[in-house]
Amino acid sequence: MAATAVSPASIEAKRNWSPIITETASMELGNDEFDPTRHLVFKDHPKVYTMKDIGLPEDTGISPVAVSEPFPLFTEEAVMRMRKEVLSAEVLGNCQYSSHLAQCQLRGFANKYAPFVYDVWKNPETLAIISKIAKIDLVTEMDIEIGHINISVKSEEEKQEELQAFSDRAQYEADEGIAGCPWEDDKPIVDWHTDSYPFVCVTMLSDCTTMIGGETALRTGTGEIMKVRGPQMGCAVVLQGRYIEHQALRALGTAERISMVTSFRPRCPTVRDDTVLTTVRPISNLEELYNQFSEYRLEILEERIRQQLKDLREAKSVGRKVATYKLKAFLEEQEKFLSHMNSEMVDGEVVRGTIEDNLLLKKKSGSKSKKRPRRF
Ligand SMILES: [Fe+2]
Repeated sequence: MAATAVSPASIEAKRNWSPIITETASMELGNDEFDPTRHLVFKDHPKVYTMKDIGLPEDTGISPVAVSEPFPLFTEEAVMRMRKEVLSAEVLGNCQYSSHLAQCQLRGFANKYAPFVYDVWKNPETLAIISKIAKIDLVTEMDIEIGHINISVKSEEEKQEELQAFSDRAQYEADEGIAGCPWEDDKPIVDWHTDSYPFVCVTMLSDCTTMIGGETALRTGTGEIMKVRGPQMGCAVVLQGRYIEHQALRALGTAERISMVTSFRPRCPTVRDDTVLTTVRPISNLEELYNQFSEYRLEILEERIRQQLKDLREAKSVGRKVATYKLKAFLEEQEKFLSHMNSEMVDGEVVRGTIEDNLLLKKKSGSKSKKRPRRF
């Protein structure tokens, strides 16, 4: 069953909010193409934590890097341009999804309605920055995953109430001499999970200067919890989310939180691709998802076969033989590759808006799933 966007009526119902950064400001923006020299502000390499740093085996994923600290990536103008496209009528009307984990998500819009966003993530300079931080050459996972948006909106009253409650509680705990962060025991947005794709880059498109919480918690190799700060507007975080159990902690004190998540896979066809579709099947147009998944996976296979054939022919031309055991190992690997691909393309069992429980690592965390907005 192919998942489709939510109905126009529910879109209208959900559009009862105003972006904090007004559209008047966006109207003054031009329509120039994405220009890395003008729209990117990346300068200093952010601090990164390696798999080893967080107590996991170095070969856990496809790169030694586990996660980065937030780093400035986009100019304010670039953020405004992306907001303008993301919050356009076409995107809100045609690309909106929701699940029991997220109140509002926008997906699969970049190659149809958001040329600036598309160019941002396809640009070689952007890819070079993400690849440099990730310590592996990366490309965007699939067009459908470019610029995935999570939107969480609260009224100004709710925001003020949250800030007041936080302040009261902090004051009470200070008075009572209770040590530790008053936020420490709060609930996550979504349970422990791993992502479907090797790497993600999360970019903030909202002003989060008053935000409390909103970190990403990672489970280290020793079972301890490590928190990484959430990014501020125009900033980004890179995470090898396919291989690290993590959860997004709640963010309070912001009326609007729009984050953009773009996923990446290795560029080199011989590097393993552990992509699954578990988290995205219920919130995707399945035909589109399966087409794009098949296309890039078959391209990988095509390239692998081409290389194998070249080796065979070259060996033959100089009178050498390629060892049969090597050939058989190659074939076995490709059989697994195809079998994995086939099993990911589930048909007829996908429930729209429901992420399978096997993704959420409830047993390990001991916590219960909550129907809260999933932001990451
Ligand atoms: Fe995640």
